[in-house]
Amino acid sequence: MPSQSFARVAKKNLRLDDEMRFIRSWIEKPLSTGAVMPSSRALARTMASYVDPQSSGPVIELGPGTGPVTEALVAHGIDPARLVLVEFNPTFCRLLRSRYPTATVIQGDAYRLRRLLETYVREPAAAVVSGLPLVTKPVRTRLRLISDALALLAPGAPFVQFTYAMVTPIPKALSGIKAEASELIWMNVPPARVWVYRGAKAV
Ligand SMILES: C[S@@+](CC[C@H](N)C(=O)[O-])C[C@H]1O[C@@H](n2cnc3c(N)ncnc32)[C@H](O)[C@@H]1O
Repeated sequence: MPSQSFARVAKKNLRLDDEMRFIRSWIEKPLSTGAVMPSSRALARTMASYVDPQSSGPVIELGPGTGPVTEALVAHGIDPARLVLVEFNPTFCRLLRSRYPTATVIQGDAYRLRRLLETYVREPAAAVVSGLPLVTKPVRTRLRLISDALALLAPGAPFVQFTYAMVTPIPKALSGIKAEASELIWMNVPPARVWVYRGAKAV
């Protein structure tokens, strides 16, 4: 088999393995897994596109799962050594450590962000990219998460979140926070939208 076709088959098998791992996790813990399938490449690429590869500082990913968004971030030009990956599921953490040995993989609860990251993140972060199933959480938990994330981010840096819901996962009326949304991404099961929240820029 020509080496290009071999590489394509190997990549496809890897994706199938990841899908199986993900489905298993969804069967065991549907609420915290939050999806039946990992995000599609189209959704992952859209998430990554909001992160400036020329920025400096860590890029924090919450709920990376089997890593489709992580892969898109790296393809977008983010050095894996800048990645801080916060994942609850220990099987996914092992997988991420083996695929991204220079990244910092933290097994823990992303809703306790500030305390969890205080020893790992020592300079303003360039982005927080979240695949957490936010809408399953009470509004006050979501508000605490965005407030913790904004405290870690450089002024004006993005908090990027995807959702299958039709409305913003973070209430719009938050003072000092700007929100924007992508088009609906149909090439995902189910279709999803990416929301980006930014605090005030430094003057
Ligand atoms: C909807 S999946 C998204 C996975 C991946 N980002 C993707 O796009 O395919 C949600 C992920 O968040 C993780 N997760 C759920 N609650 C979490 C928490 N409190 N702290 C850290 N990770 C969490 C789940 O284990 C799962 O991997």
